Amino acid sequence: MSDRRDFFGKMLGAYAGLGALGALYAAKRTWDPLPSVKAGGFTTLDLSNMQENKLYVEKWRGKPILIIKVAKNSKPATAPNGNDKNAYDDKRLITVGGHKYMIVVGLCTHLGCIPDYFPEKNKFICPCHGGQFNAAGEVLKAPPPSPLVIPPFKITGTKVVLGEVGSEYKKLKEAGVVA
Ligand code: FES
Repeated sequence: MSDRRDFFGKMLGAYAGLGALGALYAAKRTWDPLPSVKAGGFTTLDLSNMQENKLYVEKWRGKPILIIKVAKNSKPATAPNGNDKNAYDDKRLITVGGHKYMIVVGLCTHLGCIPDYFPEKNKFICPCHGGQFNAAGEVLKAPPPSPLVIPPFKITGTKVVLGEVGSEYKKLKEAGVVA
């Protein structure tokens, strides 16, 4: 009997191990880091080789930063407000080297979980309470009370320096896009 229990225990362990490996592989497939340089609270990201509509994850001051190069022909997930239900709030996208990017702090504005990205649906779904965001970080579905936060940034060529306040960030502030 104990042999059988050992056998089932080992099988269960092997399945759990395979599941963990699968999860790691899936995370690696969809969460590639960008070339980055970190110094003095600033993180410089090189966006030049990013693929469209793929999630990249970086870390800035201990927080996850989610970056997506928005595909030129992408169909945005439906936004909850506004007349054009198929439009992003373009103001939230950041133009670097002629391309548009979503760059946000990857913490759900409800209670701080990290939302998962579903490229085929072009949106984020929070695993904690089902909140949803589109690929510009706008709320599609409550309970998140506000969009994903855009961190302070400065653009230099095809690079973005997180933590520095550049003129493009100031413009977002003036337009009321960031607090
Ligand atoms: S923490 Fe994201 S929906 Fe609650």
